[in-house]
Amino acid sequence: MTKKAWGGRFQGEALEWVDAFNASIHFDKVLIEKDITGSIAHATMLAAQGIITGEERDQIIEGLKAVLDDYDAGRLEFSVQHEDIHMNVEHALISKIGEVGGKLHTARSRNDQIATDMHLYIKEKAYEIIESIETLQYTILNLAKENIHVVMPGYTHLQRAQPVLFSHHIMAYFWMLKRDKDRFNDSLARIDLSPLGAGAISGTTFDIDREQTQELLGFSDIYQNSMDAVSDRDYIIETLSNISLVMVHLSRLSEEIIFWMSEEANFVQLSDQFTTGSSMMPQKKNPDMAELIRGKSARTTGALTSMLMLVKGLPLTYNKDLQEDKEGVFDAVTTVTGSLRIMTGMLETMTINEDVLEQTVEKDFSNATELADYLVEKGVPFRKAHEVVGELVLKCINDSKYLKDLSLAEFQAHHPSIDEDIYTVLTPKVVVDRRKSLGGTGTEAVEKQLSAAEATLSI
Ligand code: ARG
Repeated sequence: MTKKAWGGRFQGEALEWVDAFNASIHFDKVLIEKDITGSIAHATMLAAQGIITGEERDQIIEGLKAVLDDYDAGRLEFSVQHEDIHMNVEHALISKIGEVGGKLHTARSRNDQIATDMHLYIKEKAYEIIESIETLQYTILNLAKENIHVVMPGYTHLQRAQPVLFSHHIMAYFWMLKRDKDRFNDSLARIDLSPLGAGAISGTTFDIDREQTQELLGFSDIYQNSMDAVSDRDYIIETLSNISLVMVHLSRLSEEIIFWMSEEANFVQLSDQFTTGSSMMPQKKNPDMAELIRGKSARTTGALTSMLMLVKGLPLTYNKDLQEDKEGVFDAVTTVTGSLRIMTGMLETMTINEDVLEQTVEKDFSNATELADYLVEKGVPFRKAHEVVGELVLKCINDSKYLKDLSLAEFQAHHPSIDEDIYTVLTPKVVVDRRKSLGGTGTEAVEKQLSAAEATLSI
């Protein structure tokens, strides 16, 4: 049985199946590069402070680099006896360079070490997610620009409400994603902090230089309290919350795409690359990718909830419970980056069935508000206008026709102020374009929106 790094005060033989339960190496091995980066900074600082010699530092750094090379080449063997990434790396280092490798852990604990690794990891992933969000925003913006002329039904309660530009509809997601991106950027203030040097709980007696490791690792600030540094997991919760919200946005968009692609709506067609067939029904083309994104949003929300539950009631400082902070966030990161990428590809290759949309908005009552507004402009109080139009809609439903099919005489029988110009006013495109108010769906307003949107992008 391998001797443990902490084995001094133990006599009983370790049990392999207990070691397996205790170990985190099967998932925290993804942190290897961060762990080694953190160790190199720590060794550099130890030497600069005269805690180890320059020669020892060089041997340690060379050794650590060799361990990483072994890992990259698939030569490094991990074992559950060495529990986690930190001890596996330390064990590999000592086997490579001998006892001097044991000096690396001077003035450090795995508690500040894992916190450092996770801060480095989350920071890197936050930037990657921000970039993926921007790529999707860019795709949405292009889609909106290319289809600026397309009118579609706008819904409330999933009932036709008022016609809108397709661009206006899709751009709503651009702005959601902008807020998501802003949230990730804001959270960096809390992610980009160095916990290194906090030790196990209370700092260290060695004359370490926390500013130096902070700078070497590129952190913009330092935890001021060692107990907070080793037990803080707020930044993981915040990241999971930010990820969950992106996923909820993607899930809502997925749901819309699934509806648009249904034979009942037939508003869009997804490309063959982003759909799948059925093993039994030859005619099927299913929006599986959109459904999967919708489904995967459950995982990320689950990870957020687990993390909140994990720290609820946890006393200071480090408790082994905190080892459970990783798998959820690793999975959430993979899920969100994958979903953003799929959504980008799906939208890039989506075709809009313009003819269907054009006919669809001709065959509904989504121009009813327009008729009411028309009467208001003629001096009729809105409440009265609402009632008149309601009665006209009811008449149309009973006669199986739409407002534009009514004769002028039929209009005037309900209100004398209605003139011949009503037929233009009721045209969906006119209905849309008259909404010139800031942030409205009129082409003019949407064009302004598109420029404002473009100005928020950095690519
Ligand atoms: N594998 C541990 C984790 O992920 C590292 C910290 C262990 N610290 C300790 N005192 N046992 O949380």
